[in-house]
Amino acid sequence: MIKFDKVQALIERENLDALIIMSDHNRRYLSRFTGSSGALVITSNQRYLLSDFRYNVQAQQEATEFEFVLQEKGLLESIVNLLNETGAKRVGFEGEHVNYNTYKLLNDSFELIALTGEIEEIRMIKNSEELKLIKEACRIADQSYEHILTFVQPGMTELEVKNELEAHMTKLGASGPSFDTIVASGYRGALPHGVASDKVIESGDMVTLDFGAYYKGYASDITRSFGVGAVSPEMENIYNIVLESQLKALAEIKAGMTGKEADSISRDVISANGYGKNFGHSLGHSFGLEVHEQPGLSQKSNTVLKPGMCITIEPGIYVDGLGGVRIEDDAVVTENGLEKLTHSRKELFIIE
Ligand code: GLY
Ligand code: MN
Ligand code: MN
Repeated sequence: MIKFDKVQALIERENLDALIIMSDHNRRYLSRFTGSSGALVITSNQRYLLSDFRYNVQAQQEATEFEFVLQEKGLLESIVNLLNETGAKRVGFEGEHVNYNTYKLLNDSFELIALTGEIEEIRMIKNSEELKLIKEACRIADQSYEHILTFVQPGMTELEVKNELEAHMTKLGASGPSFDTIVASGYRGALPHGVASDKVIESGDMVTLDFGAYYKGYASDITRSFGVGAVSPEMENIYNIVLESQLKALAEIKAGMTGKEADSISRDVISANGYGKNFGHSLGHSFGLEVHEQPGLSQKSNTVLKPGMCITIEPGIYVDGLGGVRIEDDAVVTENGLEKLTHSRKELFIIE
């Protein structure tokens, strides 16, 4: 119920007659409705879910804390009708999710108040039910990594590895990958987001896998780099620097720090070893229903970390023409530090 208390506080603070939620993830988060189309209308004393005939049964089964309104015509028309029935005048909407045409139409009938990131802020703190699902998504990712280490051989393409990894996650209960799986081998490892290609993995390549599972709507997100055959001394040195920086961040990040302070823990280790300019992305991000949520762990983030936030810790070093290494774990912020959610091995592993 805490999430509805927060929504009610928002309605009160903004002096709204009603709040419309149209974005997929926020709609699902508040109502549990998993369908692909619909909207929530929340007033100070009622919660409505509008959707169409396709979801008539499903919506009522899933969104038990909402009154279902079957949309007879277009969704927008139904929202306007419902708002008029409730007598709403001052109406809040998700500023970053509503398109211009929808805005224009609603603006003809109501006084609109744009809210930005308010439901996302409520989503930052995961409850125990969400944590259970996230832990399962992480377990699937961990077990799939162990499996893929027994599968990868020189001569395979990156795409073959991706297909096996995603199939294995599905076998373990995932509904699918949480994002486009990254398999970046050899020189392609220098691409931080090198999604699997038809490049053949060769002996001596460092291979970076970045992948995750969706389990009942919740994501995991893990990265490991490993050698296929012995890697060069330079790549081994890079690996050890990334590992040291990642372990330090895992050991030191705690509630009360800003995203910027957290980011600096890893970044300082990498910079002190001369690779500062090769770590061009942020240390991590929150995740949950989406693989990238707020707050981020970056030099730009002044958001204070709080218990219940689920974050990734993913430093990396990328050297053009040579390759790259990234190590990423998922963790939940606790009162005392971090509780790790992914546990895959991370001493440098070489497939012989
Ligand atoms: N795969 C995207 C990320 O790790 O953030
Ligand atoms: Mn990742
Ligand atoms: Mn990530």
